[in-house]
Amino acid sequence: MNKIVTILGARPQFIKAATVSKAMGETGKLEEYIIHTGQHFDDNMSKVFFDQMGIAPPNYHLGIHSLSHGAMTGRMTEQIETALIREKPDWVMVYGDTNSTLAGALAAAKLGIPVAHVEAGLRSFNRQMPEEINRILTDRISSLLFCPTPMAATNLEKEGFNGFPCRVLTTGDVMLDAALHFGNKAIKPSEINLPDRFALVTLHRQENTDNPVRLQNIIKTLNELSRELPFVFPMHPRTYKQLQNGTQEKLSENIISIPPQGYLEMLYLIQHCRLVLTDSGGLQKEAYFFKKPCITLREETEWTELVDANVNILTGSDPTLIRQAFSVFYRKAPSFSGGLYGNGQAAARIAKAFSEA
Ligand code: UD1
Repeated sequence: MNKIVTILGARPQFIKAATVSKAMGETGKLEEYIIHTGQHFDDNMSKVFFDQMGIAPPNYHLGIHSLSHGAMTGRMTEQIETALIREKPDWVMVYGDTNSTLAGALAAAKLGIPVAHVEAGLRSFNRQMPEEINRILTDRISSLLFCPTPMAATNLEKEGFNGFPCRVLTTGDVMLDAALHFGNKAIKPSEINLPDRFALVTLHRQENTDNPVRLQNIIKTLNELSRELPFVFPMHPRTYKQLQNGTQEKLSENIISIPPQGYLEMLYLIQHCRLVLTDSGGLQKEAYFFKKPCITLREETEWTELVDANVNILTGSDPTLIRQAFSVFYRKAPSFSGGLYGNGQAAARIAKAFSEA
Protein backbone atom coordinates (compact mmCIF):
# COMPACT_ATOMS: atom_id res chain seq x y z
CA MET A 1 0.00 0.00 0.00
CA ASN A 2 1.52 3.35 -1.06
CA LYS A 3 0.84 6.17 1.39
CA ILE A 4 0.18 9.55 -0.17
CA VAL A 5 -0.19 12.89 1.57
CA THR A 6 -2.17 15.40 -0.48
CA ILE A 7 -1.75 19.12 0.16
CA LEU A 8 -4.80 21.29 -0.45
CA GLY A 9 -5.52 24.91 0.40
CA ALA A 10 -7.34 26.89 -2.28
CA ARG A 11 -10.68 26.53 -4.01
CA PRO A 12 -9.57 25.08 -7.37
CA GLN A 13 -7.47 22.46 -5.60
CA PHE A 14 -10.51 21.01 -3.88
CA ILE A 15 -12.18 20.55 -7.27
CA LYS A 16 -9.13 18.87 -8.79
CA ALA A 17 -8.56 16.64 -5.77
CA ALA A 18 -12.14 15.36 -5.75
CA THR A 19 -11.65 13.35 -8.94
CA VAL A 20 -8.12 12.17 -8.17
CA SER A 21 -8.92 11.08 -4.59
CA LYS A 22 -11.86 9.05 -5.86
CA ALA A 23 -9.72 7.38 -8.55
CA MET A 24 -6.95 6.64 -6.04
CA GLY A 25 -9.45 5.04 -3.65
CA GLU A 26 -10.72 2.81 -6.46
CA THR A 27 -7.26 1.28 -7.04
CA GLY A 28 -7.40 -0.33 -3.59
CA LYS A 29 -3.62 0.15 -3.45
CA LEU A 30 -3.30 3.73 -2.24
CA GLU A 31 -3.86 5.25 1.16
CA GLU A 32 -4.43 9.03 1.14
CA TYR A 33 -4.04 11.60 3.92
CA ILE A 34 -5.13 15.20 3.35
CA ILE A 35 -3.48 18.32 4.76
CA HIS A 36 -5.59 21.48 4.34
CA THR A 37 -3.35 24.50 4.78
CA GLY A 38 -6.28 26.84 5.47
CA GLN A 39 -5.35 29.30 2.68
CA HIS A 40 -9.03 29.49 1.73
CA PHE A 41 -11.08 29.42 4.91
CA ASP A 42 -14.57 30.85 4.34
CA ASP A 43 -17.16 28.06 4.13
CA ASN A 44 -18.15 29.14 0.62
CA MET A 45 -14.48 29.01 -0.49
CA SER A 46 -13.67 25.66 1.13
CA LYS A 47 -16.18 23.52 3.07
CA VAL A 48 -18.85 23.66 0.36
CA PHE A 49 -16.49 21.87 -2.06
CA PHE A 50 -15.73 19.06 0.40
CA ASP A 51 -19.49 18.64 0.98
CA GLN A 52 -20.65 18.86 -2.64
CA MET A 53 -17.89 16.74 -4.12
CA GLY A 54 -17.65 14.12 -1.36
CA ILE A 55 -14.01 14.78 -0.47
CA ALA A 56 -12.89 13.13 2.79
CA PRO A 57 -12.43 15.65 5.63
CA PRO A 58 -8.79 16.72 5.98
CA ASN A 59 -6.63 14.81 8.45
CA TYR A 60 -4.84 18.05 9.27
CA HIS A 61 -6.16 21.60 9.10
CA LEU A 62 -3.39 24.17 9.53
CA GLY A 63 -5.51 27.35 9.55
CA ILE A 64 -2.88 29.51 7.83
CA HIS A 65 -4.23 32.41 5.74
CA SER A 66 -4.38 36.15 5.11
CA LEU A 67 -0.62 36.70 5.35
CA SER A 68 1.94 38.11 2.93
CA HIS A 69 3.21 35.61 0.36
CA GLY A 70 6.47 34.94 2.17
CA ALA A 71 4.91 34.60 5.61
CA MET A 72 2.12 32.36 4.31
CA THR A 73 4.46 30.08 2.37
CA GLY A 74 6.97 29.96 5.24
CA ARG A 75 4.47 29.06 7.94
CA MET A 76 2.82 26.47 5.74
CA THR A 77 6.19 24.88 4.93
CA GLU A 78 7.05 24.63 8.62
CA GLN A 79 3.77 23.04 9.66
CA ILE A 80 3.54 20.71 6.66
CA GLU A 81 7.06 19.50 7.51
CA THR A 82 5.94 18.61 11.04
CA ALA A 83 2.96 16.64 9.68
CA LEU A 84 5.11 14.85 7.09
CA ILE A 85 7.68 13.80 9.70
CA ARG A 86 4.82 12.23 11.64
CA GLU A 87 3.07 10.58 8.67
CA LYS A 88 6.16 9.39 6.74
CA PRO A 89 4.36 9.14 3.37
CA ASP A 90 5.80 7.50 0.24
CA TRP A 91 4.67 10.51 -1.85
CA VAL A 92 3.42 14.05 -1.41
CA MET A 93 0.93 15.24 -3.99
CA VAL A 94 0.38 18.93 -4.78
CA TYR A 95 -1.99 20.66 -7.19
CA GLY A 96 -1.72 23.76 -9.35
CA ASP A 97 0.17 26.92 -8.52
CA THR A 98 -0.82 28.38 -5.17
CA ASN A 99 1.28 29.21 -2.13
CA SER A 100 -0.01 25.95 -0.63
CA THR A 101 1.38 24.06 -3.64
CA LEU A 102 4.87 25.48 -3.26
CA ALA A 103 4.91 25.05 0.52
CA GLY A 104 3.90 21.39 0.22
CA ALA A 105 6.47 20.65 -2.46
CA LEU A 106 9.24 22.42 -0.56
CA ALA A 107 8.54 20.73 2.77
CA ALA A 108 8.48 17.30 1.10
CA ALA A 109 11.55 17.78 -1.10
CA LYS A 110 13.65 18.90 1.86
CA LEU A 111 12.69 15.74 3.74
CA GLY A 112 13.61 13.63 0.70
CA ILE A 113 9.98 12.61 0.08
CA PRO A 114 9.20 12.49 -3.67
CA VAL A 115 6.69 15.07 -4.91
CA ALA A 116 3.98 14.53 -7.52
CA HIS A 117 2.62 17.66 -9.20
CA VAL A 118 -0.80 17.67 -10.83
CA GLU A 119 -1.07 20.45 -13.43
CA ALA A 120 2.66 20.48 -14.14
CA GLY A 121 4.28 22.37 -17.01
CA LEU A 122 1.90 25.31 -17.24
CA ARG A 123 3.54 28.65 -17.92
CA SER A 124 2.22 32.17 -18.41
CA PHE A 125 5.80 33.46 -18.93
CA ASN A 126 4.88 36.35 -16.64
CA ARG A 127 7.05 36.29 -13.53
CA GLN A 128 5.10 39.17 -11.97
CA MET A 129 2.45 36.56 -11.13
CA PRO A 130 3.04 34.81 -7.81
CA GLU A 131 1.48 31.72 -9.40
CA GLU A 132 4.21 31.59 -12.08
CA ILE A 133 6.94 31.49 -9.44
CA ASN A 134 5.06 28.76 -7.58
CA ARG A 135 4.72 26.66 -10.75
CA ILE A 136 8.32 26.92 -11.88
CA LEU A 137 9.74 26.02 -8.47
CA THR A 138 7.26 23.23 -7.78
CA ASP A 139 7.91 21.57 -11.14
CA ARG A 140 11.66 21.68 -10.65
CA ILE A 141 11.57 19.75 -7.36
CA SER A 142 8.89 17.24 -8.39
CA SER A 143 9.63 13.63 -9.31
CA LEU A 144 6.34 12.82 -11.01
CA LEU A 145 4.88 15.55 -13.22
CA PHE A 146 1.33 15.18 -14.51
CA CYS A 147 0.77 17.51 -17.48
CA PRO A 148 -2.80 18.39 -18.45
CA THR A 149 -1.93 19.20 -22.10
CA PRO A 150 0.76 18.39 -24.67
CA MET A 151 1.75 22.09 -24.53
CA ALA A 152 2.54 21.76 -20.82
CA ALA A 153 4.78 18.77 -21.56
CA THR A 154 6.50 20.78 -24.33
CA ASN A 155 7.17 23.62 -21.88
CA LEU A 156 8.95 21.20 -19.56
CA GLU A 157 10.94 19.70 -22.41
CA LYS A 158 12.12 23.18 -23.42
CA GLU A 159 13.27 23.81 -19.84
CA GLY A 160 15.42 20.67 -19.96
CA PHE A 161 13.25 18.32 -17.90
CA ASN A 162 14.23 15.40 -20.18
CA GLY A 163 17.59 15.51 -18.46
CA PHE A 164 16.24 15.79 -14.89
CA PRO A 165 15.59 12.86 -12.54
CA CYS A 166 11.82 12.88 -12.96
CA ARG A 167 8.98 11.34 -14.95
CA VAL A 168 6.70 13.50 -17.08
CA LEU A 169 3.27 12.11 -18.06
CA THR A 170 0.61 13.82 -20.18
CA THR A 171 -2.65 12.76 -18.56
CA GLY A 172 -5.33 15.19 -19.74
CA ASP A 173 -6.97 17.63 -17.37
CA VAL A 174 -8.58 16.52 -14.12
CA MET A 175 -10.97 19.49 -14.32
CA LEU A 176 -12.55 17.89 -17.39
CA ASP A 177 -13.05 14.71 -15.36
CA ALA A 178 -14.81 16.80 -12.69
CA ALA A 179 -16.98 18.66 -15.22
CA LEU A 180 -18.06 15.40 -16.86
CA HIS A 181 -18.79 13.70 -13.54
CA PHE A 182 -20.67 16.59 -11.90
CA GLY A 183 -22.11 18.32 -15.01
CA ASN A 184 -25.57 16.81 -14.69
CA LYS A 185 -25.70 17.52 -10.95
CA ALA A 186 -25.53 21.31 -11.44
CA ILE A 187 -27.68 23.37 -9.05
CA LYS A 188 -29.40 26.68 -9.84
CA PRO A 189 -28.16 29.34 -7.39
CA SER A 190 -31.04 30.03 -5.01
CA GLU A 191 -30.27 33.57 -3.83
CA ILE A 192 -30.92 35.40 -7.12
CA ASN A 193 -33.46 35.71 -9.88
CA LEU A 194 -31.35 34.65 -12.82
CA PRO A 195 -32.01 36.59 -16.01
CA ASP A 196 -32.77 34.45 -19.09
CA ARG A 197 -29.66 35.73 -20.82
CA PHE A 198 -26.54 36.81 -18.99
CA ALA A 199 -22.75 36.92 -19.08
CA LEU A 200 -20.83 35.28 -16.22
CA VAL A 201 -17.92 37.26 -14.79
CA THR A 202 -15.27 36.46 -12.17
CA LEU A 203 -12.21 38.44 -11.12
CA HIS A 204 -9.65 37.67 -8.43
CA ARG A 205 -6.07 37.85 -9.74
CA GLN A 206 -3.82 40.04 -7.68
CA GLU A 207 -2.59 41.82 -10.82
CA ASN A 208 -6.17 43.00 -11.48
CA THR A 209 -7.64 43.46 -8.02
CA ASP A 210 -4.64 45.16 -6.40
CA ASN A 211 -3.95 47.58 -9.26
CA PRO A 212 -6.51 50.43 -8.95
CA VAL A 213 -6.13 51.54 -12.59
CA ARG A 214 -6.65 48.06 -14.01
CA LEU A 215 -9.54 47.40 -11.63
CA GLN A 216 -11.20 50.69 -12.56
CA ASN A 217 -10.82 50.02 -16.29
CA ILE A 218 -12.38 46.59 -15.94
CA ILE A 219 -15.28 47.71 -13.72
CA LYS A 220 -16.10 50.71 -15.93
CA THR A 221 -16.14 48.51 -19.02
CA LEU A 222 -18.27 45.84 -17.36
CA ASN A 223 -20.73 48.53 -16.26
CA GLU A 224 -20.96 49.81 -19.82
CA LEU A 225 -21.37 46.36 -21.41
CA SER A 226 -23.97 45.28 -18.87
CA ARG A 227 -26.41 47.66 -20.58
CA GLU A 228 -26.45 45.21 -23.50
CA LEU A 229 -26.44 41.99 -21.49
CA PRO A 230 -26.87 41.60 -17.70
CA PHE A 231 -23.88 40.17 -15.83
CA VAL A 232 -23.79 37.69 -12.96
CA PHE A 233 -20.68 38.20 -10.84
CA PRO A 234 -19.80 35.67 -8.09
CA MET A 235 -17.31 37.75 -6.18
CA HIS A 236 -14.05 36.50 -4.64
CA PRO A 237 -13.36 37.93 -1.12
CA ARG A 238 -10.24 39.75 -2.36
CA THR A 239 -12.25 41.59 -5.01
CA TYR A 240 -15.11 42.28 -2.60
CA LYS A 241 -12.67 43.95 -0.17
CA GLN A 242 -11.24 46.15 -2.92
CA LEU A 243 -14.66 47.21 -4.17
CA GLN A 244 -15.84 47.94 -0.62
CA ASN A 245 -13.05 50.37 0.23
CA GLY A 246 -14.93 53.16 -1.53
CA THR A 247 -12.24 54.29 -3.99
CA GLN A 248 -13.73 52.38 -6.91
CA GLU A 249 -16.68 53.09 -9.16
CA LYS A 250 -19.90 51.39 -8.01
CA LEU A 251 -21.13 48.34 -9.91
CA SER A 252 -24.04 49.01 -12.25
CA GLU A 253 -27.43 47.64 -11.21
CA ASN A 254 -27.24 45.44 -14.33
CA ILE A 255 -24.45 43.51 -12.64
CA ILE A 256 -25.80 41.00 -10.15
CA SER A 257 -23.08 40.49 -7.58
CA ILE A 258 -23.32 37.32 -5.47
CA PRO A 259 -21.04 35.61 -2.92
CA PRO A 260 -18.59 32.91 -4.09
CA GLN A 261 -20.61 29.95 -5.34
CA GLY A 262 -20.25 26.22 -4.77
CA TYR A 263 -18.97 24.04 -7.59
CA LEU A 264 -22.42 22.76 -8.58
CA GLU A 265 -23.85 26.30 -8.67
CA MET A 266 -20.90 27.48 -10.77
CA LEU A 267 -21.53 24.63 -13.20
CA TYR A 268 -25.13 25.81 -13.54
CA LEU A 269 -24.05 29.39 -14.22
CA ILE A 270 -21.52 28.26 -16.84
CA GLN A 271 -24.02 25.97 -18.54
CA HIS A 272 -26.66 28.73 -18.75
CA CYS A 273 -24.61 31.84 -19.53
CA ARG A 274 -24.10 33.35 -22.95
CA LEU A 275 -20.39 34.04 -22.46
CA VAL A 276 -17.74 34.19 -19.75
CA LEU A 277 -15.41 37.02 -18.73
CA THR A 278 -12.72 36.02 -16.24
CA ASP A 279 -9.14 36.16 -15.04
CA SER A 280 -9.39 32.65 -13.55
CA GLY A 281 -7.42 29.80 -15.10
CA GLY A 282 -9.94 27.09 -14.33
CA LEU A 283 -12.98 28.98 -15.55
CA GLN A 284 -11.39 29.50 -18.98
CA LYS A 285 -11.35 25.73 -19.42
CA GLU A 286 -14.78 25.17 -17.89
CA ALA A 287 -16.21 27.68 -20.38
CA TYR A 288 -14.70 25.52 -23.15
CA PHE A 289 -16.03 22.26 -21.67
CA PHE A 290 -19.56 23.71 -21.91
CA LYS A 291 -18.95 25.43 -25.28
CA LYS A 292 -19.10 29.02 -24.04
CA PRO A 293 -16.82 31.71 -25.47
CA CYS A 294 -14.47 33.29 -22.96
CA ILE A 295 -12.94 36.75 -22.66
CA THR A 296 -9.82 36.52 -20.52
CA LEU A 297 -9.07 39.67 -18.53
CA ARG A 298 -5.33 39.04 -18.59
CA GLU A 299 -2.53 39.70 -21.07
CA GLU A 300 -1.52 36.05 -21.24
CA THR A 301 -2.93 32.64 -20.46
CA GLU A 302 -1.46 29.28 -19.56
CA TRP A 303 -4.21 27.73 -21.70
CA THR A 304 -2.96 28.97 -25.07
CA GLU A 305 -4.72 26.19 -27.00
CA LEU A 306 -8.04 27.95 -26.25
CA VAL A 307 -6.80 31.15 -27.90
CA ASP A 308 -5.47 29.16 -30.87
CA ALA A 309 -8.91 27.53 -31.21
CA ASN A 310 -10.53 31.01 -31.36
CA VAL A 311 -12.80 30.35 -28.39
CA ASN A 312 -10.90 32.60 -25.98
CA ILE A 313 -9.77 36.20 -26.52
CA LEU A 314 -7.12 37.82 -24.31
CA THR A 315 -7.94 41.44 -23.52
CA GLY A 316 -6.11 42.28 -20.30
CA SER A 317 -7.80 45.27 -18.67
CA ASP A 318 -7.91 47.32 -21.88
CA PRO A 319 -11.47 48.73 -22.32
CA THR A 320 -11.22 48.81 -26.13
CA LEU A 321 -10.07 45.19 -26.36
CA ILE A 322 -12.74 44.03 -23.89
CA ARG A 323 -15.46 45.85 -25.88
CA GLN A 324 -14.19 44.41 -29.17
CA ALA A 325 -14.04 40.85 -27.83
CA PHE A 326 -17.50 41.23 -26.32
CA SER A 327 -18.98 42.35 -29.60
CA VAL A 328 -17.28 39.49 -31.51
CA PHE A 329 -18.63 36.80 -29.17
CA TYR A 330 -21.98 38.48 -28.47
CA ARG A 331 -22.82 38.68 -32.16
CA LYS A 332 -21.77 35.18 -33.05
CA ALA A 333 -20.67 32.29 -30.84
CA PRO A 334 -17.52 30.57 -32.17
CA SER A 335 -17.58 26.92 -33.19
CA PHE A 336 -16.16 24.43 -30.73
CA SER A 337 -14.37 21.16 -31.34
CA GLY A 338 -13.55 18.90 -28.40
CA GLY A 339 -10.49 17.08 -27.23
CA LEU A 340 -8.09 19.79 -26.05
CA TYR A 341 -8.01 18.46 -22.48
CA GLY A 342 -8.13 14.69 -22.91
CA ASN A 343 -11.05 12.33 -22.54
CA GLY A 344 -12.07 12.59 -18.88
CA GLN A 345 -9.68 9.83 -17.75
CA ALA A 346 -6.93 12.04 -16.30
CA ALA A 347 -7.61 11.10 -12.67
CA ALA A 348 -7.56 7.39 -13.50
CA ARG A 349 -4.20 7.80 -15.26
CA ILE A 350 -2.77 9.65 -12.27
CA ALA A 351 -3.99 6.98 -9.86
CA LYS A 352 -2.53 4.24 -12.08
CA ALA A 353 0.85 5.96 -12.20
CA PHE A 354 0.88 6.07 -8.39
CA SER A 355 -0.12 2.48 -7.91
CA GLU A 356 2.77 1.48 -10.20
CA ALA A 357 5.29 3.90 -8.64
C1 UD1 B 1 -5.19 31.94 -4.65
C2 UD1 B 1 -4.02 31.47 -5.51
C3 UD1 B 1 -4.44 31.44 -6.99
C4 UD1 B 1 -5.75 30.71 -7.20
C5 UD1 B 1 -6.80 31.28 -6.27
C6 UD1 B 1 -8.12 30.56 -6.40
C7 UD1 B 1 -1.80 32.02 -4.64
C8 UD1 B 1 -0.61 32.88 -4.79
N1 UD1 B 1 -2.87 32.34 -5.40
O1 UD1 B 1 -5.45 33.31 -4.94
O2 UD1 B 1 -3.43 30.79 -7.73
O3 UD1 B 1 -6.19 30.85 -8.54
O4 UD1 B 1 -6.33 31.16 -4.91
O5 UD1 B 1 -9.17 31.29 -5.77
O6 UD1 B 1 -1.77 31.09 -3.87
N2 UD1 B 1 -9.83 35.35 1.51
C9 UD1 B 1 -10.99 35.35 2.29
N3 UD1 B 1 -11.66 34.17 2.43
C10 UD1 B 1 -11.25 33.01 1.87
C11 UD1 B 1 -10.08 33.03 1.07
C12 UD1 B 1 -9.39 34.21 0.89
O7 UD1 B 1 -11.40 36.37 2.82
O8 UD1 B 1 -11.88 31.97 2.07
C13 UD1 B 1 -9.06 36.59 1.36
C14 UD1 B 1 -7.68 36.45 1.97
O9 UD1 B 1 -7.69 36.74 3.31
C15 UD1 B 1 -6.89 37.45 1.15
C16 UD1 B 1 -7.57 37.41 -0.20
O10 UD1 B 1 -8.86 36.84 0.00
O11 UD1 B 1 -7.03 38.74 1.69
C17 UD1 B 1 -6.78 36.64 -1.23
O12 UD1 B 1 -6.59 35.28 -0.83
P1 UD1 B 1 -5.22 34.51 -1.20
O13 UD1 B 1 -5.29 33.17 -0.61
O14 UD1 B 1 -4.08 35.37 -0.88
O15 UD1 B 1 -5.19 34.41 -2.76
P2 UD1 B 1 -6.27 34.22 -3.90
O16 UD1 B 1 -6.51 35.51 -4.58
O17 UD1 B 1 -7.50 33.50 -3.44
